[in-house]
Amino acid sequence: MDTVIKGGRIVTATETYEADIGIEKGQIALLGRNLEGDETIDAKGMFVLPGGIDPHTHLELPFMGTVSADDFRTGTIAAACGGTTTIIDFAIQGKGQTLREALEIWLKKAEGKASVDYGFHVAIGAMDDARMAEMGELVRDGVSSFKIFMAYKGTFMVDDETLFRALLRAREVGALITVHAENGDVLNYLINKHVAEGKKEPIWHALSHPPEAEAEATHRAIVLAGLAGAPIYFVHMSAAEALEALKAGRAKGFKVFGETCPQYLLFSIEKYSEPDFEGAKYVMSPPLREKGNQEALWQGLAGGDLQAVGTDHCPFNFAGQKEMGRDNFAAIPNGMPGIETRLPLIYHFGVNGGRFSINRFVELVSTGPARLFGLLPRKGTIAIGADADLVIWDPNKKHKLTRENLHMNVDYSPYEDITVKGYPALVMQRGEVIVRENQFVGQVGAGEFLRRAPVRL
Ligand code: URP
Ligand code: ZN
Ligand code: ZN
Repeated sequence: MDTVIKGGRIVTATETYEADIGIEKGQIALLGRNLEGDETIDAKGMFVLPGGIDPHTHLELPFMGTVSADDFRTGTIAAACGGTTTIIDFAIQGKGQTLREALEIWLKKAEGKASVDYGFHVAIGAMDDARMAEMGELVRDGVSSFKIFMAYKGTFMVDDETLFRALLRAREVGALITVHAENGDVLNYLINKHVAEGKKEPIWHALSHPPEAEAEATHRAIVLAGLAGAPIYFVHMSAAEALEALKAGRAKGFKVFGETCPQYLLFSIEKYSEPDFEGAKYVMSPPLREKGNQEALWQGLAGGDLQAVGTDHCPFNFAGQKEMGRDNFAAIPNGMPGIETRLPLIYHFGVNGGRFSINRFVELVSTGPARLFGLLPRKGTIAIGADADLVIWDPNKKHKLTRENLHMNVDYSPYEDITVKGYPALVMQRGEVIVRENQFVGQVGAGEFLRRAPVRL
């Protein structure tokens, strides 16, 4: 064996057991006892987890007059330090572009910079007959998921015909349509009304994005997915009402899947009223909700109604970027950082918090996204033949999530006051150690583009 990880407790979505892991040519080659290798890594007292898979990131995204602050170099180093070894980012079709052109643009952004493996969902801006044909070609080339924005009127938002055509085609070609579900027309009306009335503080961002607008769009998209006979995946779910729509769709037999993010599990609408414009740090869409929604989302994760935790990592610096909206919440770039803190937060508040088992944790942050997005069996589990993307997880390591203790290229940490228990001690990508004791020691640009399998759920 090239490398043996010795004495750890292996955790998959279904099992926990003690065994050595033998690694050869970047893959898991043996699971057993008393294995020998050229190099030995001691994992006594540690868990060994499959590398995290973040199905929702926005690196170097041009958005709202600026660009998200992490590029593929800084963002993937931060991901790795937090135990994530695969990301799926979004390539967004601009006006007049083909889907392929959008993909090419984002492939160039990642090439030579990404230090973890990566794939792309292609966000659809227009769905004429030529684009429908293109969807099949992209699936054949390993891009088996697409994105529809039902919000951001005037930029990313598309109409229901576009959504419906994408769903119909997705069913034919084996793709999964992911959706940002908020009623963009209602949001647009409320934003304009509030700004015209002089209501321009960050709290009005939340009050312009009511939970009903998320629930309505979720319900509408599920009905259209049912009509098309296609599976559908809702990104960044934030509201209990929307989760109810998802459950109702599943009860009818529709193939509906949902993701939430740590910020919706841990924070509530009060954040927007923090003094000195601090609320801007949490301006994102959908916004933070009333506290009661958090419990519904945790139950959704524990009980199986939600299948994945993503980050929606879309960081903007407070200085110079969030500040663009000091006089008007509508000009605050939407998004917050999280690519590095997902595993620690979900482990700490989910597993240590007694909400679910460590196996469910692995399912939510790794195996679930791998299954939904065509990455199993190569990623998302610990099994012979899988990539040796592994996290040696120290369940006793305490880590304060301050800006200084993190690697994301953004001038604040939303989790500044939180100390988690449980953190990566070592992270490995395809057999190479890339993180040791919170330091990136890998090779910048060693991340590979992943050709994902068609999705047949
Ligand atoms: O506010 C957010 N979520 N920004 C990123 C873009 C999106 O909607 O996912
Ligand atoms: Zn979104
Ligand atoms: Zn997003």
